[in-house]
Amino acid sequence: MSEAVTRRVAELRATLDRLNVEYYVLDTPSLPDAEYDRLFAELARLEAEHPALADPDSPTQRVGASPASAFGAVRHVVPMLSLNNAFDDEDVIGFDRRARELLRAVLPADEPIDYSVEMKFDGLAISLRYEDGRFVQAATRGDGTTGEDVTANIRTIRSVPLRLARPLPGPLEVRGEVLMFKRDFERMNERQREAGEREFVNPRNAAAGSLRQLDPAMTAARPLRFFAYGLGQVGADWAPQVPARQSDLLGWLAGLGLPVGPRRTASGAAALLAAYREVLAGRAALPYDIDGVVYKVERQDFQAKLGFVARAPRYAIAHKFPAQEALTTLLAIDVQVGRTGVLTPVARLQPVFVGGTTVANATLHNEDEIRRKDLRIGDTVIVRRAGDVIPEVVAMVPDRRPPDAPGFVMPASCPVCGSAVMREPGEAASRCVGGLFCAAQRKQALRHYAQRRALDIEGLGDRMIEQLVDSGRVHSPADLYGLTAAELAALDRMGDKSAANLVESIERSRHTTLARFLFGLGIRHVGEEVARQLASDYGDLAALLAEDWDALIERKARIQKDNTRRRTKGEALAPVPLEGVGPEIVDSLRRFLAEPHNREVLEALQRAGVHWPVTERALQAPEGRLAGRTFVLTGTLPTMTRDEAAELIRAHGGSVSTSVSRKTHYVVAGTDAGSKLARATELGVAVIDEDGLRRLIESDPVPGDRGS
Ligand code: IVH
Repeated sequence: MSEAVTRRVAELRATLDRLNVEYYVLDTPSLPDAEYDRLFAELARLEAEHPALADPDSPTQRVGASPASAFGAVRHVVPMLSLNNAFDDEDVIGFDRRARELLRAVLPADEPIDYSVEMKFDGLAISLRYEDGRFVQAATRGDGTTGEDVTANIRTIRSVPLRLARPLPGPLEVRGEVLMFKRDFERMNERQREAGEREFVNPRNAAAGSLRQLDPAMTAARPLRFFAYGLGQVGADWAPQVPARQSDLLGWLAGLGLPVGPRRTASGAAALLAAYREVLAGRAALPYDIDGVVYKVERQDFQAKLGFVARAPRYAIAHKFPAQEALTTLLAIDVQVGRTGVLTPVARLQPVFVGGTTVANATLHNEDEIRRKDLRIGDTVIVRRAGDVIPEVVAMVPDRRPPDAPGFVMPASCPVCGSAVMREPGEAASRCVGGLFCAAQRKQALRHYAQRRALDIEGLGDRMIEQLVDSGRVHSPADLYGLTAAELAALDRMGDKSAANLVESIERSRHTTLARFLFGLGIRHVGEEVARQLASDYGDLAALLAEDWDALIERKARIQKDNTRRRTKGEALAPVPLEGVGPEIVDSLRRFLAEPHNREVLEALQRAGVHWPVTERALQAPEGRLAGRTFVLTGTLPTMTRDEAAELIRAHGGSVSTSVSRKTHYVVAGTDAGSKLARATELGVAVIDEDGLRRLIESDPVPGDRGS
């Protein structure tokens, strides 16, 4: 025997021993179960090929690991064994064939074996001991012979009955699995995260960690469940009651008040495989994780005949599902720009077969996520793909980190368009501010621009947008207006007729409204409602482009503060510019408009002939912003005399009156205003100051005009 084999066997035993301790004692496995299974299988194969290397202390000869010392020890009168695994159809067929051979004497040749098909719960094996129908002790599996006393903790699990429904004298040991529902696990991890505590990798570890709490009060706070699947020690009074078939046993346990999982029966290997596929297909819908199904020979007398080898029975086998977790290498972290400009780091992985498919990429969500998981390029990582869920990097394996593994930094500029990347305080996402200019955002921008509620370009579907952008023909919505029918007809799946129709609807979209246009730009936070308000308050794009946003924010704040004072005094309130448009929206507008690329697109769109009827007020502008409005002046204004103010009002088309009536639109009040102010308040006429007057003249809304 070669030295290499001896060395490998020693290495495998050491690794498996360490993994066993991590898994069973510390609840912090560093490798996925499938990796454990692989190493275990390799060791078992080497030991079988080289019998001289046999060792009773080898991990292949034991189940689990010695119990942690913190809990009392419990000796299992009936050992808690493990199950052999089947990984493919051949393994199952072989299992059935061997069982038939061993049962040859008692089973007619043409009769298939009946099996009970059960869920393989992915939790922790537990033995519950009842005496005279009362719960007295619970123990973990430990090494199969000796487990830990977790009675106090198990007592806190509500689905474990403290009294059996139909008690008999003497002992009855119920074997089953403690686990955590997926939904409970998510919620618990959320709480852990909020409390800044360690998160659990999966429901199994969470269940194990919860059960191993030394303080039962801690366990009580964790949402654990129990499912029974078999029996341990059975007292003489109980024995005659125990059903002779496994599926009946489960029903009997349920009748005693114990929770049991879904089960079915199947005859022969083909039926087992059919059941397997059905359970696999429905796996994601189960409230808890299962990592396979368990086939058990139905008849107890057959079970007894088949007996055990080493650590597992010959009458049962676990048919494992394709592993949902696997180990691979994190080759790189790329950044993708999503449709809304969000930069998403994506893990490029050494392709690995997991959850039934080959996975080469996984989203890493955002910067914080990478930091939380402490991922670096070159790390060995655990990848999970559960059901239809998108693949995920669960954790890295610390002791496999290469020296000098580089960390990840979010780029400061967009990898696609070079625009700035921003991350708002309190937000996890980093965003490219490039908007319409950013290639990655173009398609989405075009989709948004063309939608019915925006520019309403019929016939500009996703496929068309893809082709137009990918061919480089269309960079921004403005380019749409240069498309010809001939050009469009040359595209995939585009006839002359539909090309002509599309050109026609692009043409039609030139005539729109400012509100639709502003909404169509896809500015963050500017939905239809905000777009309508901007359109009505500014009247035209030029006014919006000319806005001094800092000054606007200041002005808004000043007027709002002043209005608070007015409200307490019962005075009429001054109009607030862009009322209801919060600082977040203003900021987003400012950023969008400050980006030169976006300005270029706006200009190009207008050059392309996109136009809208300017609102009433904007139309009034040439003859005066204040046309049709009557003003009354009172008190001392800060920077001009009342005559100067009157002149200003008239210059902008307004009229000035000396007395306040219901017909008065505004009272412009300075300090020491007297009876006219009182009268205005009485009649509910708007009162503004000199600054308010200036704003009316510049661009701000006139009350009552809103929505015109
Ligand atoms: S029967 C002697 N039934 O799988 C056979 N085990 O790998 C005892 N498990 O230690 C096991 N679901 O923790 C059985 N329906 C089920 C099971 C199940 C999960 C676990 C159990 C056992 C391990 C064996």
